[in-house]
Amino acid sequence: MDIGIIGSGQVAQTLAGKLLELGHGVMVSSRDVTAAKDRGDWGVIPSAGEFAAAQTALGRAAAAGSFADAAAFGELIINATAGEHSLDALQSAGTSHLHGKILVDVANPLDFSRGMPPTLLFCNTDSLGERIQAALPDTRVVKALNTMNAGVMIDPGQLPEETTVFVAGDDQKARDWVSAEVLTAWFGWRHVVDLGDMTAARGLEMWMPLWLRLWGATGTGVMNLKVVTGA
Ligand SMILES: NC(=O)c1ccc[n+]([C@@H]2O[C@H](COP(=O)([O-])OP(=O)(O)OC[C@H]3O[C@@H](n4cnc5c(N)ncnc54)[C@H](OP(=O)(O)O)[C@@H]3O)[C@@H](O)[C@H]2O)c1
Repeated sequence: MDIGIIGSGQVAQTLAGKLLELGHGVMVSSRDVTAAKDRGDWGVIPSAGEFAAAQTALGRAAAAGSFADAAAFGELIINATAGEHSLDALQSAGTSHLHGKILVDVANPLDFSRGMPPTLLFCNTDSLGERIQAALPDTRVVKALNTMNAGVMIDPGQLPEETTVFVAGDDQKARDWVSAEVLTAWFGWRHVVDLGDMTAARGLEMWMPLWLRLWGATGTGVMNLKVVTGA
């Protein structure tokens, strides 16, 4: 399958690497395909162009382009942009390129303007997932994978126990397809919980403040939620 990733950061490159390994065609994208990103303590992330060149050298079908290029390229689209700027990025990707497609939204609406830890730009009665779906009424938006770090998204088996991933979105068939294909068949998730329509993205995004505290408390981002139910 050809997959267009809107974004070029850590999540975009981690997802792209796994998807390329699985044999998919992938385009990562950026406002400037030549600009690497200095992430401070996390090091420098190669530019979209450098990432694609390195993958191509490994014999994988990797490409880099603008947000619009990736949106046109992908049969499936992934939004992996900073949540604060996701709506702008998706507007520049072009609504016509996204028409009818499934878009997996992994972004969180984090506000870093007052330093660390970030807060949520909006929450409780609103979410980024809902804003994206409202801005792209002809696109089938599925919120997923925003509740864990990038490495765990594509390799849940690195945790010693089975943990939980969620889907939310207004299109049941799109949620089912993302659950069965992207999450289960491609990334190896065994416990997917379908939370229903896109208003569930509020809770998924509001998990972020607790995730950030857990990161501090446990000293690792390699952790996740596990939902355990009684009878
Ligand atoms: N990092 C994780 O492990 C993790 C885990 C779960 C969810 N998430 C969420 O996934 C998303 C991506 O995270 P990330 O860590 O990979 O990278 P990030 O630094 O949050 O986002 C990088 C992407 O956002 C785009 N962007 C930044 N400012 C922009 C602007 N003004 N206009 C348009 N686009 C802009 C960048 O575009 P350029 O390429 O042009 O610079 C880049 O492609 C975020 O929403 C994050 O909250 C991250």
